[in-house]
Amino acid sequence: MPRFEREFTQRLVQKARDTFTRDDEIRCFVAPGRVNLIGEHTDYNDGFVLPAALELALVALMAPRDDGKVVAVSIDESPDDEFDLGSISKLPDGQWSNYVRGVVLALQDQGGDLGGFTMVVGSTIPVGSGLSSSAAIEVATGFGLGKLYGPPIPRPDLAILCQRVENEFVGVNCGIMDQFIVANAKEDHALFLDCRTLSSDDVPIPTDLAVIVCDTHKPRTLAGSKYNERRAECEEAVRAMATIKPSVSSLRDADPELLAKIKDKVSDDVYRRARHVIGENRRVLESVRALNQGDAAAFGRLMNESHASLRDDYEVSCHELDVMVEICQGVEGVLGSRMTGAGFGGCAVTLARAEAAGQVERAVLTEYPKRASLKASVYRSRASAGVKEEDPDKLLGGIWE
Ligand code: GLA
Repeated sequence: MPRFEREFTQRLVQKARDTFTRDDEIRCFVAPGRVNLIGEHTDYNDGFVLPAALELALVALMAPRDDGKVVAVSIDESPDDEFDLGSISKLPDGQWSNYVRGVVLALQDQGGDLGGFTMVVGSTIPVGSGLSSSAAIEVATGFGLGKLYGPPIPRPDLAILCQRVENEFVGVNCGIMDQFIVANAKEDHALFLDCRTLSSDDVPIPTDLAVIVCDTHKPRTLAGSKYNERRAECEEAVRAMATIKPSVSSLRDADPELLAKIKDKVSDDVYRRARHVIGENRRVLESVRALNQGDAAAFGRLMNESHASLRDDYEVSCHELDVMVEICQGVEGVLGSRMTGAGFGGCAVTLARAEAAGQVERAVLTEYPKRASLKASVYRSRASAGVKEEDPDKLLGGIWE
């Protein structure tokens, strides 16, 4: 269950008072951020991932309106947005309400008979840190509209719709992982997802372990361009493999033997990208087995291996992430640590014995700024549930009184 500080709920309530009227039927939808425990850059290769939802979350207050307009405001982002349901276009890149516009348009495209609505958004998920603040607003909007205007959208379908919005409307070529976990997570569980079939399993996270997310505050400037470059390199590896084994349609279908056969046919970069993905899929399968067998130490080792592979073979880490991971790995009681998300900045995720969490936080807050000349933020989080509706009065302590 996400936790919100009083200061946050007060600002949200104030914005709600400024935006809604007392006659509005305000409903409240909460969508979490996410951290990926292991399985990086595998989702767009039809592979396996193991993310969990965070207690950091986005709250969307929504009320229907009958004038065919959408009014969207945020307590942190600007500008406010207002548009007609009948003519939705994309705003310039980087505008927060593009996510709202895109989801509304996608629902209309699939035949949804939507009315207008007013939406007030607040979020504790840091923007630009790789914790899926964008998936949270997409999924909250889609889920909320399913509740406001029906029919409710099945959660896996909601994830697919939101990924499509991100790919086609917003213009970010992401895989399915972020939207899927934000829509489908179960409290206190990670989610093992097969990104080819979208079949999934909830994997309990033992309560004696702590999941710690450390933000490097390194801007992820290269993330977009390099992400697309990596995708293209993976596709090149697949093309080379398919000339040897035509049934290979993604790196999911490849194994080390096949990889060895293309070594001389592709560049060293392409070879190492494929080696990462093939190894990472294996590591996800092994880490799920380890978690189910209560072998947290094995899980941690796989996280460390994942980081090394992302750093050396996939080359999506950076100095700041490497420093962060090194600091965390050096603390007693830490089982494993790795960069998480697309890379080139953003966050590291660390798995530690619960009693070591305080020491991890202290080490990061003192050592990281000295070594990276940036500040650090540390979030310790239980695994939350996916998007859900909450009683706004219970969550916010009453909007009008
Ligand atoms: C970003 C994308 C995801 C996934 C990760 C890398 O977070 O949005 O779909 O590809 O990068 O694992």
